[in-house]
Amino acid sequence: MNKITLKGKTELGKINKHIYGHFAEHLGACIYNGIWVGEDSDIPNIRGMRTDIIEALKAINAPNLRWPGGCFADQYHWRDGIGPRDERPLTLNSHWGDAPETNAFGTHEFMDLCELIGADPYIGGNVGSGTVQEMREWIEYITADHESEMSNLRRANGREKAWPMPFWGIGNENWGCGGHMSPEFYADLYRQFHTHIKNYGDTPMMKIASGYGGSDTDGEDLAVVMDRLYNTRFPVRTDGVSIHYYVYLRNDETQRAAEFSTDQWFETMKLAHHIDHVIETNDAVISEYDPEKKIWLIVDEWGNWFQVEEGHNPAYLYQQNTVRDAVVAAHTLHIFQDHNDRVQMANIAQTVNVLQAMILTEGEKMLLTPTYHVFDMFKGHQDATRLALDVEADDYSNGEDTLPAFSASASQSASGDVLLTLCNLKPDEALTITCDVQDLNVATVEGMVLAGEAMNAHNTFDQPEKVVPTAFSGATLDGQSLSIDLPAGGVVALTLR
Ligand code: AHR
Repeated sequence: MNKITLKGKTELGKINKHIYGHFAEHLGACIYNGIWVGEDSDIPNIRGMRTDIIEALKAINAPNLRWPGGCFADQYHWRDGIGPRDERPLTLNSHWGDAPETNAFGTHEFMDLCELIGADPYIGGNVGSGTVQEMREWIEYITADHESEMSNLRRANGREKAWPMPFWGIGNENWGCGGHMSPEFYADLYRQFHTHIKNYGDTPMMKIASGYGGSDTDGEDLAVVMDRLYNTRFPVRTDGVSIHYYVYLRNDETQRAAEFSTDQWFETMKLAHHIDHVIETNDAVISEYDPEKKIWLIVDEWGNWFQVEEGHNPAYLYQQNTVRDAVVAAHTLHIFQDHNDRVQMANIAQTVNVLQAMILTEGEKMLLTPTYHVFDMFKGHQDATRLALDVEADDYSNGEDTLPAFSASASQSASGDVLLTLCNLKPDEALTITCDVQDLNVATVEGMVLAGEAMNAHNTFDQPEKVVPTAFSGATLDGQSLSIDLPAGGVVALTLR
């Protein structure tokens, strides 16, 4: 029996808009030949950045953007990316295929992009190969309105006013590409960087610790980091702890993003579902130090990671995006919302042309992926109040493994509208779900559905609108009982008024 009870009077706190955040790394064609085409390009652009991408990100209310990496961040030296572009050094992106790095896209371009989108900037600072002084000066360059060498340098480079900087990451995956550091060593470095970096602006700046362990972490290494930060004579606090969670199937040569079997669909859903456990275990570690849940758990990289598409540079991580990705996105966002007391921010990897991309480009062409459309359909959840839902889902089984057949989440915005989103984890079976609406007076229901003709349906540059949201006619209201026909592998967003 697939059943939901929506409890209109049981409010479960705010869903932080920042869980709908994005991540753009200097990797493959995310920045160069993706977002950045240069001012002289024939592709319409605003100061070098593609207009269509800016418009697309504005349309989904992208709340924040993380940059410049990823692994790239711990090799990035910010001074390479300021000043006249033709004087910037040509460096090598040794993490990602030794690609030439012109440094044409640097601090000013990134901050400009954020302002154009209306997104808050989230910069990941270099701990792995940088110095405390380098990071300290970068933040002064960005945030100081005082008379100082750094702020004068910024002014000389064309920006009079300092920028607000709400989110600052101290390193990235320092257990891996960020330096292969032990958790003890990273914690000691965190203490040092944390002490010396200073925000000079009025907007508070959260200092975020690089999470410890990969997608399989149960929080053991984070426990070491937290112990070393807090259980000392001079505790150093953190505002946020990041974790990364990938549905990591890149080594499976039998599947690609748009070529897979129903068993592989199940395996993908199973891995996606496991993030619930990873959040719980990391939350438990943090709660030992912060039972009031003030520290943000930030999943600042997440998504599907499949084999690179044929004909593409293996280091550039370009993959297609199907309705399978849409369901993973919807289910993961539901799980984040289930943990809205701790998970306050997240960044899907990545924005353009890399991994579970929101947007793909080819020359002047651009398409919005099924994942993008989920973010569009779910945007009403941003900063809304989460409402309690009791979900009774049938099993979706494969061999010994069992998952819920669907997931759902509900929120109420300031206008009083209730957004109920659902996704069907089964690729080949439609579900009928009854929803008992309590303590709300619902007169109308309308919505959108995203579904494909096949489980690997996707958009191409020739057919960019094969998978797009359409008006949903599968919801009927009878008194305060709602019946919803959720298509196979489909995502539905309903507005109840
Ligand atoms: O998103 C691609 C890479 O995945 C990032 O650079 C790194 O942080 C993670 O391992």
